[in-house]
Amino acid sequence: MKLELDLRMATGGGENSYASNSRLQKKAILETWPLLQKAIEELYMWLPSRSTMVVADLGCSSGPNTLLLVSEVTSTIRDLVQETGGHRGLELQFFLNDLPGNDFNLVFRSLEQLQNRDAMAKTAAPPCYIAGLPGSFYTRLFPRQSVHLFHSSYCLMWRSKVPEDLSSGKHLNEGNIYIGKTTPPVVAELFQGQFRKDFELFLRLRYRELVSGGRMVLTFLGRKSEDILNHGDVATMWELLAEALQIIARKGRMEREKLTSFNIPFYAPSLDEVRALIKQTELFDIEYIGLFESNWDPQDDSGSDMVHDCVTSGENVAKCIRAVIGPLIMDHFSEAILDELFLIYASSIAKHLKKGKAKYPIIVVSLKRGVCNTIAI
Ligand SMILES: C[S@@+](CC[C@H](N)C(=O)[O-])C[C@H]1O[C@@H](n2cnc3c(N)ncnc32)[C@H](O)[C@@H]1O
Repeated sequence: MKLELDLRMATGGGENSYASNSRLQKKAILETWPLLQKAIEELYMWLPSRSTMVVADLGCSSGPNTLLLVSEVTSTIRDLVQETGGHRGLELQFFLNDLPGNDFNLVFRSLEQLQNRDAMAKTAAPPCYIAGLPGSFYTRLFPRQSVHLFHSSYCLMWRSKVPEDLSSGKHLNEGNIYIGKTTPPVVAELFQGQFRKDFELFLRLRYRELVSGGRMVLTFLGRKSEDILNHGDVATMWELLAEALQIIARKGRMEREKLTSFNIPFYAPSLDEVRALIKQTELFDIEYIGLFESNWDPQDDSGSDMVHDCVTSGENVAKCIRAVIGPLIMDHFSEAILDELFLIYASSIAKHLKKGKAKYPIIVVSLKRGVCNTIAI
């Protein structure tokens, strides 16, 4: 699996695309707005007149969520200009980053909607320049000390690769595609080790690229338990998909070996793991760290613990996961299995939801590159 090429959300704007199935991720972005607004306000007050605020969205994907950050930063600044009574000549530069396989064409085509919205607004928005930036956020993306604000939502649970000792076949994760109930502890540690390497690298890279006092607001899937063998509902989501893949294999619709060699480049850390790594690098001050939960079914906004219609919820969850993992499955197995696989998956999810509502834990961190963080890196 060549992750930088293979990992991409379902492209286009059709029924199975990420653009049509990203309500779950939208809810997380909206939930974290207050933290983002606070970071923007502080940066706005701190920047000298006539400067350019550089903002980057890492893992922007394509679809309605991609331009949410641009709209939010622009409207927060527009409000601040009104409140403080002075424009201060601020200009905005946005970079929309994702892996090269992302549907950047869809993103670029949607920029026109933003211009139309701005043209209709009563108060003029600050001048705003938007560029696409293909590349992995596990590499350097920007010149040193050139960015004021990094935002990334629903991305940092993705690893840069499947751990080598797993992809090489040195260790096996029979019957699983992530950390499941039968995953050997040594394999769970491989996933964890890959997360530690990736997350530390991410922090070091962004530290170099941020200006002193620059901010990062990061939101990603996590887990509630400290036990690395117990990933709760996040593990169940992948275990049910592994079971659906096994059903397809038993029907002779794919080679068994293909299944044994398939693992997801993913890790859901606990809050303590994330906090400890940030503290250990000594590069950032933690302004906020916390965890909230979101229902599996993207269309379910209720706080109750009962699932109203398990069949419909199963279908909604399957659509959401297909838009995310479909392209990776298609490249590793074949496109021909996708419809059947996700029908089986939807019905397993429906059965699982009869036991009660399932939720994703989501970690959110707001970080500040301290002026005094002078550690050599
Ligand atoms: C679930 S989508 C989230 C997209 C968007 N931020 C949202 O909230 O709707 C995760 C995105 O992260 C991107 N991604 C994963 N690993 C990446 C990496 N190493 N570098 C850049 N983007 C990455 C994927 O390609 C995908 O578009």
